[in-house]
Amino acid sequence: MEFWHDRVLVLDFGSQYTQLIARRIREAQVYSQILPYSTPLARIQAYRPKGIILSGGPASVYDRRAPLVAKQLFEQDLPVLGICYGMQLITHVLDGEVAKATRREYGRAELLIDDDSDLFKGVGEGGVTTVWMSHGDRIERLPKGFRSIAHTSNSPIAAMKSVADGRRIYCLQFHPEVAHTVGGFRILQNFVHDICGCKPTWTMSSYVETAVAQIRDTVGKGKAICALSGGVDSAVAAALAHRAIGKQLTCVFIDNGLLRREEGAQVQKTFASHLKLNLRCLDRSSEFLKGLRAVTDPERKRKIIGRLFIKSFEAEAYRIGQVRFLVQGTLYPDVIESVSFKGPSATIKTHHNVGGLPTKMRLRLIEPLRELFKDEVRLLGKEVGLPDDMIWRQPFPGPGLAVRILGAVTRERLAMLREADAIVEEEVRNSGLYRELWQAFAVLLPVRTVGVMGDQRTYEHVVAIRAVTSLDGMTADWAKLPHDLLGTMANRIINEVSGVNRVVYDVSSKPPSTIEWE
Ligand code: XMP
Repeated sequence: MEFWHDRVLVLDFGSQYTQLIARRIREAQVYSQILPYSTPLARIQAYRPKGIILSGGPASVYDRRAPLVAKQLFEQDLPVLGICYGMQLITHVLDGEVAKATRREYGRAELLIDDDSDLFKGVGEGGVTTVWMSHGDRIERLPKGFRSIAHTSNSPIAAMKSVADGRRIYCLQFHPEVAHTVGGFRILQNFVHDICGCKPTWTMSSYVETAVAQIRDTVGKGKAICALSGGVDSAVAAALAHRAIGKQLTCVFIDNGLLRREEGAQVQKTFASHLKLNLRCLDRSSEFLKGLRAVTDPERKRKIIGRLFIKSFEAEAYRIGQVRFLVQGTLYPDVIESVSFKGPSATIKTHHNVGGLPTKMRLRLIEPLRELFKDEVRLLGKEVGLPDDMIWRQPFPGPGLAVRILGAVTRERLAMLREADAIVEEEVRNSGLYRELWQAFAVLLPVRTVGVMGDQRTYEHVVAIRAVTSLDGMTADWAKLPHDLLGTMANRIINEVSGVNRVVYDVSSKPPSTIEWE
């Protein structure tokens, strides 16, 4: 993408919050990009950043393999902000002294601001604010030219700066990017707007203009296709491409029989009726269910679904004829080169997408969301006229309900799960919690249990409810749903879904569990 936005680079040292730093900077309407800490200086310079942020990380500068950077990074006449490990690293590299922790400081702390002239401008009340600490080592002796600008009762140097000799280096022992740090966003704004001098131009409406122009330019008079999944990413990518090239784009929606209730109808309504987009809906459910017959192994299910998907999609592309481009909703977290972004799940499950297609069919990829985080994609969706329902739909895995039916996938079991899932979704929406949860869904277990209905003994299926909160799906907490909501869902499922006589709630977090059961 051709860029005219000022940018700030975040060098990643492995903190779980690295992505959050970049997202906050973008919320301040400044483009920011994550690079591994080991990126050579020449490559950093080639991006022409207006500032650099060194993230936190789990290491100690005294570790044998501590991730370090060269001193030259601080001789670039570029503002630098070091956060947590970033601060210790700067101290270490610039010949200050970092003391090994005797005790970790973790959690909320009261920060007393000693200099509110730049980084802390407008932060706190009466020079006091709440911050989130999470560090082991601490600064014992300042590097030359630095002075302390804030302290806590535990850390005499909780923040420091050096503005001597044209240097503009700032360091924070705490995490300004997390919500618990009350003035954190203002601190980051002060850094990128005032200290780095970045103009706040990064908005989704400006993004639409650039992306549309670029897609037009790339596609020319050619034809492009896009696979719609019902999820927000492919929907936004398609809507954006449609705005750029109109009828030269054909979208394909494959009903694999593993969808949620009314999913196909919703896609049709949004894209064909509302956006007037060229849409082909294909019912391939029989083929998928035949392929999945008697298959119980999760990985095999995923592979079969992936293969059949590619086969159906490919056949349709040939039918359309002369297609040269494939539009895909790849997001920034999928392409970030960083130390920390790939959670343990990255290789645990085969994630089904159309990855195999472009090379096999000699299609050129168009990925208009490559630069964006999920929350930006949602804003963009609004810009290009998608309805809220679609924009805020919770994520749904490519292999669909097949990975939520443990054991063999049959039409009967699909029908049962679809009903139970619809009840979970409806009740979660009614409770007003839908947007707060990353996902809430039902899982059909491969066991039957004894129950009693009326005077009859029953021996029927068990449904598990899974609800999690998460920032990005990489890690997740089980959601502490109100008991009456759980009760209502369980009652309704047992009463309304025939074949189910028991409901359980999944109280595992990720890691060590995953969000999906298969
Ligand atoms: P797990 O189960 O690995 O899931 O904790 C993390 C997030 O990814 C979604 N997921 C998938 N999405 N294709 C997708 O597009 C897949 O094969 C797939 N498997 C899991 C899952 O719903 C959760 O949001």
